[in-house]
Amino acid sequence: MPTTFPAPRAGVSSDTTLDGSNPRYPVTIVILHWIVAAGVLALIATGLYMVDLPKNTGQRAALFNLHKSLGIVTAGFIIALIAWRSRRRPPEFPIAMPQWERRGAAVSHALFYLLMVLVTVSGYLTSSFSKYGPKLFGVELPHWGWDDAVLRGHFADSHRLIAWAFAVLIAVHAAAAVKHLIVDRDGVFQRMLPRSRSERTAPASDR
Ligand code: HEM
Ligand code: HEM
Repeated sequence: MPTTFPAPRAGVSSDTTLDGSNPRYPVTIVILHWIVAAGVLALIATGLYMVDLPKNTGQRAALFNLHKSLGIVTAGFIIALIAWRSRRRPPEFPIAMPQWERRGAAVSHALFYLLMVLVTVSGYLTSSFSKYGPKLFGVELPHWGWDDAVLRGHFADSHRLIAWAFAVLIAVHAAAAVKHLIVDRDGVFQRMLPRSRSERTAPASDR
C-alpha cells in the first residue's frame, strides 16, 4: 500500500490535489514538451545512424548537417522550456502519489534540464572543433574553436556519453509515465496532454 503524501482529505479522490482540483501543465508547455521530446528522439536516431556511415559520402555530410540543424532548432525550444520552468512551479502532484515518486520525479526532471544543456553544448563544441563547423540549414554559425582532431575527439566522446545517459533517462521517464497511465491511473500522464473539449467545458469540480 503506497504511503500517500500528505494524507488525503475525506471526500477528495486520490487523483486530485488536496483542494480537489486536477491541475495540468499549461498547454504551451505541453506543446513545448512534445516538440522537445520529438526533437531529442530524432537527434538520438540520426546521431547513432550517421556516425556509422562511410566517410566522405554525400549521405554522411547531409545527415551531419541535418543533425546539427535539428540540434540548434531543438535548442531554441529547450531554452523556452527552461525559461518557463525557471519562473513557474510545475502543477501539484495528486495526493495519492507517494513521497519517493515525488522525489524521483523532481530529481529526474532536474537531470533532464542538465542533460538537455550538456548534450547541446557538447554537440556544438564537437562541430566547433572541426573544419565543417556548426551550421543551421547551410548557414554557418559562430565557431567556438578551431580544427583540432584531438579536442574534437574528446568532445565527441563526451557528446556520445551524455547522449547515452539521456537515452537511459528517457527510457526510465517514459516507463514511469506509462506506469502512471496504465497501472496507477492517477492522471499524472494526462498532466502532459491538453484537456479534451469535454474536460474544458466541465465544471472545475468535476475534473
Ligand atoms: C524524449 C525526451 C523527453 C524529454 C526531454 C522530456 C522532458 C520532460 C521534463 C523536463 C518534464 C518535467 C517538466 C517540469 O515539471 O519541469 C517532463 C514531464 C513529463 N513527461 Fe517528459 N520528456 C521526454 C519524453 C517523454 C515521453 C516519451 C513521455 C511519455 C511516454 C513523457 C511524458 C511526460 C509526462 C506525463 C510528464 C509530466 C510528469 C509530471 O507531471 O510530473 N515524456 N518531461
Ligand atoms: C538534444 C540534442 C542532441 C542529441 C540528443 C544528440 C545526439 C547525438 C548522438 C546520439 C550522436 C552519435 C554519437 C556516437 O555514437 O558517436 C551524435 C553525434 C554528433 N552530434 Fe549530436 N546530439 C544533439 C545535439 C547536437 C548539436 C546541437 C550539434 C551541433 C551543432 C551536434 C553535433 C554532433 C556531431 C558533430 C556528432 C558526430 C560526433 C562524432 O563525430 O563522433 N549534436 N549526437
